[in-house]
Amino acid sequence: MMKFFASFCLLVVLAAVNVSQADNLQCNIKSNAAFKGWPDMKEPCIRSMREQIQKEISASMQYLAMAAYFSNDTVNRPGFAEHFFKAAREEREHGAKLVEYLSMRGELTDTVKNLIKVMPVKVKSWSGLSALEDAFKLETEVTKSIRDLIKTCEGNSKKADDNDYHLVDYLTGVYLEEQLTGQRELAGKITTLEKMMASQGELGEFLFDKNM
Ligand SMILES: *[C@@H]1O[C@H](CO)[C@@H](O)[C@H](O)[C@H]1NC(C)=O
Ligand SMILES: [Fe+2]
Repeated sequence: MMKFFASFCLLVVLAAVNVSQADNLQCNIKSNAAFKGWPDMKEPCIRSMREQIQKEISASMQYLAMAAYFSNDTVNRPGFAEHFFKAAREEREHGAKLVEYLSMRGELTDTVKNLIKVMPVKVKSWSGLSALEDAFKLETEVTKSIRDLIKTCEGNSKKADDNDYHLVDYLTGVYLEEQLTGQRELAGKITTLEKMMASQGELGEFLFDKNM
């Protein structure tokens, strides 16, 4: 019993010492222990990728603002609200895909704060039509930005080494494809809504919203 009590006391003392020395117990793995030297993306391309991530996330926030606007009981256009909530999710997903791409290439080298930056949203008293038109304008800018990104990541045509073939293929075949399909969808919606409003006015917007 005495023996047990003695070792128990020893444990208590050791624990107390441990707590007081907690600062010394921090893990000491040096930050340069990470395996390096393999990432091979070139500089103007990496910077443009980061900017594209910010544009996608900012577009997501802009659509979220529009969704909030149409969700208001004083506006009450649930179809438009749902459309813009979905658009916001898609844009956030686009941003996330590019973050994952940089991660795959070992190129998440900037700080998180620099990477995840959002431009301020623009808000106005949208009609259904003006919101779709603003969305279309935003998508046109994003498309142009992706084309510029592709051009940048193709590098200098005289130096084949600068061409980031894999990223360019992904941006052209997957990313731009989705972008162009989305644009076509929006253009169709604008045409239909314009036609409905030409003959039915406000009732046209009401019916369009129901059908979204
Ligand atoms: C909702 O509408 C009211 C009245 O027009 C306005 O004061 C408020 O800012 C609106 N809120 C949102 C999120 O649209
Ligand atoms: Fe996008």
